[in-house]
Amino acid sequence: MISGDNMTLDELNEKCLACRACKLCEGRTNLVFGVGNEKSKIMFVGEGPGEQEDLQGYPFVGRSGQLLDKLLAVIDLSRDKNVYIANIVKCRPPKNRDPEAQEQDECIKWLREQFKIIRPEIVVCLGRIAAQRLISPDFRVTRQHGEFIKKGDTLFMGTYHPSALLRYPENKEAAFADFLALRGKIKEMNIQI
Ligand code: URA
Ligand code: SF4
Repeated sequence: MISGDNMTLDELNEKCLACRACKLCEGRTNLVFGVGNEKSKIMFVGEGPGEQEDLQGYPFVGRSGQLLDKLLAVIDLSRDKNVYIANIVKCRPPKNRDPEAQEQDECIKWLREQFKIIRPEIVVCLGRIAAQRLISPDFRVTRQHGEFIKKGDTLFMGTYHPSALLRYPENKEAAFADFLALRGKIKEMNIQI
């Protein structure tokens, strides 16, 4: 248990800044806790900070972040208004390698505390690492993107990671469809954004 019962997101962020629970702390310039509206019912979860994120201290602020912001804007979502964005690991893995299982195991404790405070109704996993961690260990983005899966009180959906879309733009159309499906789900569930 990291947080007390009434801890705010800012207080949790403060605690997280001191975290040295895995070796990723050694290479960080900034810890990247998360960004957005903590009252949001929609959360997006990526993998971990890249170079720009590490330098600036916020998630998805590099090229892939610009693409994410565009996709969000199409369905009237924005980090400045009505979503919250975080990552599976809060410190940048060296040379952007995949975060190791043990690093994810440590860091996901912080994400779970973020979930407890925000209590999102929908969580969108950006890419394989987040989807395999939060939906199922054998999740295949190419086959299962856009599917909504209920776990407890929360709906989860996995879609392409924006940096994968920059590398393979032929998947942008499918990702776009996932975002439209998300918009449909928000309407269907009558979530006020
Ligand atoms: N990729 C991620 O998974 N997260 C970020 O914050 C930036 C790039
Ligand atoms: Fe702590 Fe997570 Fe950073 Fe590891 S990656 S040091 S668990 S905040």
